[in-house]
Amino acid sequence: MEMNKLLNIFLPPLTIISLIFILPPFLVFKLLWSIRRSVFKENVAGKVVLITGASSGIGEHLAYEYGRRGARLALVARRTDRLQKVAGRARELGSPDVIVITADVSKLQDSKRFVDETVNHFGQLDHLVNNAGIGRPQTFEGTKNLSNYLPVMDINFWGSVYGTFFALPHLRKSRGKIVVMSSAAGWLYPPKASVYSASKAAQIALFESLRAEWGPGIGITVVTPGFVESELTQGVQVQKAKVKYPAL
Ligand SMILES: *[C@@H]1O[C@H](CO)[C@@H](O)[C@H](O)[C@H]1NC(C)=O
Repeated sequence: MEMNKLLNIFLPPLTIISLIFILPPFLVFKLLWSIRRSVFKENVAGKVVLITGASSGIGEHLAYEYGRRGARLALVARRTDRLQKVAGRARELGSPDVIVITADVSKLQDSKRFVDETVNHFGQLDHLVNNAGIGRPQTFEGTKNLSNYLPVMDINFWGSVYGTFFALPHLRKSRGKIVVMSSAAGWLYPPKASVYSASKAAQIALFESLRAEWGPGIGITVVTPGFVESELTQGVQVQKAKVKYPAL
């Protein structure tokens, strides 16, 4: 008998049998691991956290949560006035030091600059939160100009690659962490989200591969939220940033 035929017969039952034996201990291990993590929560007081897309939405609220826990913050986005407001509130909530950096994560030089400015000011970097992202529901056929899709990939995917690359040596020094604000669209593939979904899937694949490459030295957390109300879902058009997409 050919190898293929043999495998067709024996592989499915073997897979199921091995799953039956492997899955329960794996689930127990996962449960214990999540308990361990909730008991030994990281103390971020005094740590330096850089958040991209911090002017609104999830990024803004992450700034407040880190601020409440006493982290020092570098807030990055394209809109300085919005960033200043978020910085003020994060200080009120308890952050001892907040700087704002106006930058576009989809530009390589901007990404180098915001990491450099952060480390020059604070002397270290502990968490990089790759949060900046754009996108709006749109059918593929209904797209008037395909070029409109380019910033989605540039910001959601390349925007998280650039910052990560420049932050890496500093994160190695601090044994730091990367948090990636991806999306359930990265594995759920909903309609009207074609290039947005693809950008988030690319982001997930990239960071899972880096996780394997780097080992436990640098923590990577990929967050895949579902539908979260923000400027992005409200379809706000940001004129100042000169793009037709809502900016986060
Ligand atoms: C599509 O958009 C790009 C970039 O904004 C622009 O350069 C190009 O002229 C547009 N093409 C059409 C056909 O409108």
